[in-house]
Parts: sequence; C-alpha cells; structure tokens
Amino acid sequence: MNLPAARIGDPVEAIDTPALVVDLDALERNVARMAAYAREHGMKLRPHAKTHKSAAVARLQLEAGAVGVCVQKPSEAEALAAQGVSDLYISNEVVDAAKLAQVAALAGRVRLAIAVDSALGVDRLAQALRAQGTMLDVFVEVDVGHGRCGVAPTAAGALAHQVVSHGLRFAGLQAYHGRAQHLRLPAERDSAIRHAVALARAAQASVTAAGIACPLVTGAGTGTFVHESMSGLYGELQSGSYVFMDRDYADNQATPHAPAFEHALFVKSQVMSAGTSHVVVDAGHKAHAIDSGLPRIWGHELDFVNGGDEHGILRRRAAGATLPALGETVWLVPGHCDPTVNLHDHYVVVRGGLASGRVEAVWPVDARGCMR
Ligand SMILES: Cc1ncc(COP(=O)(O)O)c(C=O)c1O
Repeated sequence: MNLPAARIGDPVEAIDTPALVVDLDALERNVARMAAYAREHGMKLRPHAKTHKSAAVARLQLEAGAVGVCVQKPSEAEALAAQGVSDLYISNEVVDAAKLAQVAALAGRVRLAIAVDSALGVDRLAQALRAQGTMLDVFVEVDVGHGRCGVAPTAAGALAHQVVSHGLRFAGLQAYHGRAQHLRLPAERDSAIRHAVALARAAQASVTAAGIACPLVTGAGTGTFVHESMSGLYGELQSGSYVFMDRDYADNQATPHAPAFEHALFVKSQVMSAGTSHVVVDAGHKAHAIDSGLPRIWGHELDFVNGGDEHGILRRRAAGATLPALGETVWLVPGHCDPTVNLHDHYVVVRGGLASGRVEAVWPVDARGCMR
C-alpha cells in the first residue's frame, strides 16, 4: 500500500499530488442533510457504502441516524465488518457456493441481509446458512426498469415463497432503478420512478397473493430518492453518492424540494507542465475514473481534456480565462465518485476548506479493490 499523501496537521498546500481529498465540512453537511431528509419523511436510511468503501464514512452516516449500510459484494461486507460496521445489506445477488459460505459465516458475526433473484441462489444460500447454523434477512430483487438483475414483478411471490419455505427471513423487496439516477431532468426521473413504483406494487401484490407479508420496499439513489420517498411504497433509501457529489450528479437538474448536496470529494493535482495554449496536471485517469465523463476543474473556467493515464490537459473555456501557473494546485471534481475512490488507498481528510484548511485525518479506503 502507498504511503498517505499527507500527515495529520499538515496544511492543504503540503498534500502531495495526486491525492484523494475529502472536504470534511462539506461531507458532514451532506451526511446531515440526507439524514434530516430521511427523518422528516419517515424513511429509513441505509446509505450505499459502494460509494465510499470506508468504515469512517459509514460511522458518520450511522451516527447521523442511518440504520446500517448497503454494500455490493461479500468482500466489501467483510472489509467493513472487520472495521466494526455491524449492520450490512449486500444489495446484490450471489450464487457462488464458496462466496455464500463466506456470507453465511459473516451472518454469524454481524446483522446481515442479501438480495436474491433466482431459485438456485435461494437454494444455495439456504444450504450455506444451514451448514453454518446462521440466519440473515433476504430481499427479493425486482427489475423495476433498469434491465439488470431482478425478477419480473409477477415472479416475486413465488421466490418469496421459496425463501420462506427454506426457513429464511423474507425481509421485503429490493426495487432499485439505477438507470433513472442520471436522467438529467426531474420530470424524466419522476416518470421513471412512477413506472418503477407501479412495478414494485405489482411485485408486492404477488408476494401478498402468495400469503406472505412484505415488511419493506428498499431502493433509491441520489438522483431519485425524493420520488421514492413520495411514493408511499418505499420505506428505505439506499442513496450513496450524495455523500461526495461527483460531477455527473452535479450535471443533473436539481429536483425541487431535494436537499442540496455539495462536492466533498476532490483529486488534488499540480500543474507539471505549462504551455501557452494549455497546461498539464499530474492526475490522469489512474487518479480519477472517467467512465461517466471527465472531471470538472474547481474554481476555474477551464476544461479538462483526457491526457492519458498520468496526465490531464487543461484548456481555457473562454478566451479571457487564465491558465494556472507551473507548480500551482488544481482541484478536480471527479466525474464518478465510486470508481475514483477505488483507485486510491487513502482519503486525505481536510477541515477548514480547500483554500486554507488542514489535514484532520487520513482514512484508509477499507474496501478498496473488494470486487468479489
Ligand atoms: C442497489 C443500489 N442501491 C443504491 C445505489 C446508490 O446509488 P447512488 O450512488 O447513485 O446514490 C446503487 C448504486 O449503484 C445501487 O446499485
């Protein structure tokens, strides 16, 4: 593992580059705003830890009122459990027997839940839990428009019945619509989630018709949680990216009445080469993910042009804009926070702002690389 880019107490100028930097004041405001929204709207909040992969961030969310966190992979759950996070939901399907043995063992140490969308998955999960003598909560995932995992709404009852028949705890439905999150206009997101709600209601009816109670519908991301909250159907929100707010989310037109989230995750970079038409910073796409587009330059009228693995080219957006000088710091707002975090070993955590703050903590990215 790399050494951290700074030490506690260092001024911001001393943070080596490129570095993943958290503006702690902004992050705390984001955590508090989402927690307040959930509380005021009677929703449980189970933020997605796939965004941050960090026990320190999870702890802040739990202290603010989250009931637990979601993860996507058993190894992510293991990494956070090892750091004391004790209520975890693997909001994803696992069908591999060896992985399910790991899941069943973990269920003996923390409160655990998992999503299923196949009879084979349920059978293997039940077998693994029997072998370990452990238990967990099971959510049946319904495809509510993403076209990824999840059963058709009419099949939810049969799968819930199978869960119960194995003596497992049926906890409700997972109804997450990923593709709705980055529809740019609130009206588009509203329409996508109305459709998702109709499908989730049909799934709930299918479960009820099978004679099984459906205690909870869980889902929602940073782009749509207002719509799920207003649906009268969902009881739990899984938003993740709100904690950092990447460039791609900032490009969404804001939903009326949604709390405003601030950018709290940055890549600190330095100008390493300067020409007259452009300058080059030392943070290419090994320092920030570009799957959702290129980063925004914080506080400058400049455009980031992909310069490759280790370089970022900055050009003036308008003729009068000033290029930063050789050696100057440039703060990048990553295009997509989750995969950017996964590129780094540490967060350098700054209190007092990016202009003149100090390093208050260095947090490991505990579940970095946990993709299994
Ligand atoms: C199942 C599930 N829930 C919640 C989220 C969180 O979404 P976001 O980070 O967009 O808030 C994701 C993100 O991919 C997800 O896959």
